[in-house]
Amino acid sequence: MSTAPRGIVVGHAGAPARIDVCDVSVSFPLYHGNSRSLKKTVIAAASGRLGQDRSHRVVVQALRDVSFSLVSGDRLGLIGSNGAGKTTLLRTLAGIYEPVVGRVRMQGSINALLDPNLGMNPELTGRENIRLRGLYNGLGSAQLRRLEEDVQAFAELGDFLSLPLRIYSSGMVVRLGFALATAIRPQILLMDEWFLAGDSDFMEKARERLEDMVRGAEILVLSSHQADVVRDWCNRVLWMRDGRVIADGESGEILERYLGHPVPTKEVTGTTRPRNEPPLP
Ligand SMILES: Nc1ncnc2c1ncn2[C@@H]1O[C@H](COP(=O)(O)OP(=O)(O)OP(=O)(O)O)[C@@H](O)[C@H]1O
Ligand SMILES: [Mg+2]
Repeated sequence: MSTAPRGIVVGHAGAPARIDVCDVSVSFPLYHGNSRSLKKTVIAAASGRLGQDRSHRVVVQALRDVSFSLVSGDRLGLIGSNGAGKTTLLRTLAGIYEPVVGRVRMQGSINALLDPNLGMNPELTGRENIRLRGLYNGLGSAQLRRLEEDVQAFAELGDFLSLPLRIYSSGMVVRLGFALATAIRPQILLMDEWFLAGDSDFMEKARERLEDMVRGAEILVLSSHQADVVRDWCNRVLWMRDGRVIADGESGEILERYLGHPVPTKEVTGTTRPRNEPPLP
């Protein structure tokens, strides 16, 4: 059981949270070398998603005509095969990518758990990284102190907190990154699946903290290949394929259509290969 104090709540004073995504398309030009991996590009090519933009550049169409709205209480799971567009959609909601067409409107404070090392500076000490994150989130001095205590208690890094991150082991960086990312409690929580990966003792403790955070958020958008997590945490699911939403509805029903059978019980699940998805090229 974690005895750490509950995280720092930000931005709950205003209006209820809301997300409106209207006819959003996102594409990436391929020529300047920022295509993330050969595998994903091959998947995109094989699924007919390479196109041209107005300047005749070759682009991958990562999201196509995506529309949905979420209000306080909605917990949305994003499912679909590798390259379906789940991470791109999360990053678009977080404001990291801008739609080429369409509109995204986010109302409420946001915490995006998308990249484990997001916003961490290896040259700064653990404690300095914590303060920096707090300042970035607009915390006052009393809240900053609480944030430091909270992260310190959870990450259990002892004296290492006074040393620069570059000398941490990779496990230590994960502990700090996780503790920090889950210390700020937002109205809208965006989460990519890496947050649920791993099965060490730490991940068990981490999961408890994550579940607490998920319960505290007004809106959750989660991408995961773990059907049981999506079933347990989400009340609505978007099934994505080739950048499009191909089904949108109640979690149990969409998951069953996606998998081709009901979601198995916890003991036998993990990452389940969906029967109703074409095999990867
Ligand atoms: N930075 C990028 N540059 C070029 N193409 C990209 C970039 N990011 C994503 N893509 C393309 O967008 C498509 C969607 O990728 P995305 O990472 O959103 O898929 P995903 O559903 O999250 O897949 P996974 O289950 O593997 O995480 C892929 O075909 C990929 O080629
Ligand atoms: Mg992804």
